[in-house]
Amino acid sequence: MVTETATVPAPAPALPVKTVRVVSRNWGKPNSHTLPSYRDSGGYKLWEKTVKGQGLKPQELIDTVKAAGLRGMGGAGFPTGVKWGFLPKDNPKPRYLVVNGDEGEPGTFKDRYIMELDPHMFIEGCMLSSYAINAHVCYIYLRGEFLFQVKRMEAAIDEARAAGLLGKNILGSGFDLDIHVHRGAGAYICGEETGLIESLEGKKGQPRLKPPFPAVVGVFGCPTIVNNVETLTHVVPIVEMGAEKWKALGKNGAPGTKLYGISGHVNKPGVYELPFGSTMRELLEFAGGVRDGKKLKAIVPGGASCPLLLPDQLDTPLDFDSIKKAGTMLGTACAIVMDESTCMVRAIARLLKFYAHESCGQCTPCREGTHWLAKMLTRIEHGEGREQDLTLIDEVANNIMGNTICALGDAAAMPTISYFKKFRHEFEEHVKTGKCRFGEHEVAPRQVTIGP
Ligand SMILES: Cc1cc2nc3c(=O)[nH]c(=O)nc-3n(C[C@H](O)[C@H](O)[C@H](O)COP(=O)(O)O)c2cc1C
Repeated sequence: MVTETATVPAPAPALPVKTVRVVSRNWGKPNSHTLPSYRDSGGYKLWEKTVKGQGLKPQELIDTVKAAGLRGMGGAGFPTGVKWGFLPKDNPKPRYLVVNGDEGEPGTFKDRYIMELDPHMFIEGCMLSSYAINAHVCYIYLRGEFLFQVKRMEAAIDEARAAGLLGKNILGSGFDLDIHVHRGAGAYICGEETGLIESLEGKKGQPRLKPPFPAVVGVFGCPTIVNNVETLTHVVPIVEMGAEKWKALGKNGAPGTKLYGISGHVNKPGVYELPFGSTMRELLEFAGGVRDGKKLKAIVPGGASCPLLLPDQLDTPLDFDSIKKAGTMLGTACAIVMDESTCMVRAIARLLKFYAHESCGQCTPCREGTHWLAKMLTRIEHGEGREQDLTLIDEVANNIMGNTICALGDAAAMPTISYFKKFRHEFEEHVKTGKCRFGEHEVAPRQVTIGP
């Protein structure tokens, strides 16, 4: 157990990695969200060639994405080409491509920039992917709060349709494709792919039991591929450059590039496109280091659901496999940095209120367990914790893990176990002294009333 904070060494004079602008290459250009601007940078040439049958054929597109080693950027990191290959070959029903643009994971803010700053590259990714899997309808599911991004996407789709790049018999090719934007009603659970499908069908966003997986039975009972916004945007440079060249952009064995987000106690929060496999230290240096010269305490590497990385793990490459070896997850690759002034009890208590609120209520361990944890952690934070709470935290969290239909329960339990294990002394101190050494918090009213 590491209990001490550490100082991040001063940034090297020259940064060890450079940003590689591939999916973010048009960001910052004037009117980068418009069709003429995208066309100026060679946009849609690939789609025109492909749809006319002069480029890669559907199976070749799938093989290229597989060979590139592209993995899902929505959190789970499942290999994209392999998922596409799960579509049943003998099912006569229509196939759908559904894009997950819910981006509800706390601390995550990369997909919204793609949609805001270069919606056409994302749309071209949807077109190529729909062609690869032979889907003629693509739904883009966006979080209800993303009103601006909804407008941007709808305007860009209208431009593409007016230019003959979408619709019936595209460019005389005989291939039909349309893309529709669907605005959700703002619930974290609607980011889980089967909750999203239910919501898209007009029902309550409650996850489905799997199997069957969406590739076999998805939206409207038809074979469906669900992919994240960033995942599909990477398809454009992969097809453009070819698998090998794209793969070579990565480092430490990871392929291609990645949009990393970083927020919290840093000088320059933002989204940085870096070689995939860049280290946490490099990302932190891009973000200008910890703010106000303070010491680093802990990092949530990829959205709030991930276990913590500690200062002595800064050289961990931020890719799916390396970070797993460090005992955590890449998740959405949007890190939250916490400096030495952070009360870990308060941080996790606040987070559990979120999960308790967002639990859809289907599974008892998640519905009850997240509320119990929120209640206990809030009690400890308020200086009213009991000795037995210190045993119950682990017990309740471990009883949620793996016992629910979807991973929301795990997403609440994993950080709880991690914060508690790595900073147990802070929990014990709150219980023993009834005080917080980080000073008085502005405490939110206690809304959680269910539980032990
Ligand atoms: C509670 C929960 C919330 C999720 N929220 C999102 C989300 O907002 N965006 C997303 O792309 N994936 C989200 N996921 C992951 C999706 O279920 C799914 O794995 C992903 O959309 C697949 O796309 P990918 O393979 O391209 O990553 C969430 C999963 C869970 C369990």
